[in-house]
Amino acid sequence: MKRNLNNVCITGSGNGIGKAIAILLNKHGYNVACVDINLEDAKKTIYEFENKVARSVAISADISIISQIKKMIKEVVYSFGSLHIMINNAGVTRTSDIMKLNEQDWYWINNINSKGTFFCLQAAANQMKFQKTGGRIINMSSVGARGFVDVSNAIYAGSKGAIISLTKTAAQQLGKYNINVNAICPSPTYTEIVKKLIKTRSLEQNKSENEIMKHYMRDVPLGRFNQPEDIAEMALFLSSESSKNISGQSFNVDGGLIPS
Ligand SMILES: NC(=O)c1ccc[n+]([C@@H]2O[C@H](COP(=O)([O-])OP(=O)(O)OC[C@H]3O[C@@H](n4cnc5c(N)ncnc54)[C@H](O)[C@@H]3O)[C@@H](O)[C@H]2O)c1
Repeated sequence: MKRNLNNVCITGSGNGIGKAIAILLNKHGYNVACVDINLEDAKKTIYEFENKVARSVAISADISIISQIKKMIKEVVYSFGSLHIMINNAGVTRTSDIMKLNEQDWYWINNINSKGTFFCLQAAANQMKFQKTGGRIINMSSVGARGFVDVSNAIYAGSKGAIISLTKTAAQQLGKYNINVNAICPSPTYTEIVKKLIKTRSLEQNKSENEIMKHYMRDVPLGRFNQPEDIAEMALFLSSESSKNISGQSFNVDGGLIPS
């Protein structure tokens, strides 16, 4: 896929989906800034990069804190000269029934998933506007925002729904700066978040972890569990020139689970 925009920043890329995106984009020649609250994890992602010609940098930032977001953008620009593609991937959740969720859960999940995504998008868009280069913003939502029945919890579903709405409005308001904004909605993807979810449900329901995984797969027409690399392929497409006329959209990567 053709690449005109080169410099990428990926939040939460020390593990899971963000890490898979970072590795794939590096392989395709992008300069990748790996951001994580855990700097060591971000560094470990970079150690796995196979393309040693493309530039890379590991950055520590907690994306729920605006001052750290601003510092993160400055570090990307300092390292690569500009920022072209912002991938707002960092997100958190825990498995819980709606009746057991509390205020602390609400603030924890929304501060990272909703507030963090918004202020990363705003800071990145400001930088892209200043550069006059245009750019791409990719937000990580979830099929939890589309009504997936086994979503980890209701606050998480709401935080991911906010990301879909933000994606639509941001695309409308940032198009004049040649910035495309899209979202990806993965179904359960085999990362630490999902391993924890499967473990909790297996204890709650007194079923084996294998049975829980089969249960998740019951309505998936293609019959496979998402791997982080499946999500990375969509992020690569949305970063490339092939998607230059696509904006304001949210794409499920879910094996056909929720047709839209
Ligand atoms: N795994 C799934 O099944 C699934 C499905 C749908 C959507 N998603 C979304 O995809 C994204 C990535 O999920 P994952 O499964 O790879 O998770 P993960 O837990 O494996 O990785 C998340 C990474 O984000 C980092 N992080 C957490 N809080 C942060 C913060 N405040 N600032 C910076 N970094 C922070 C963590 O340190 C970790 O490295 C999330 O937004 C998640 O909601 C995941």
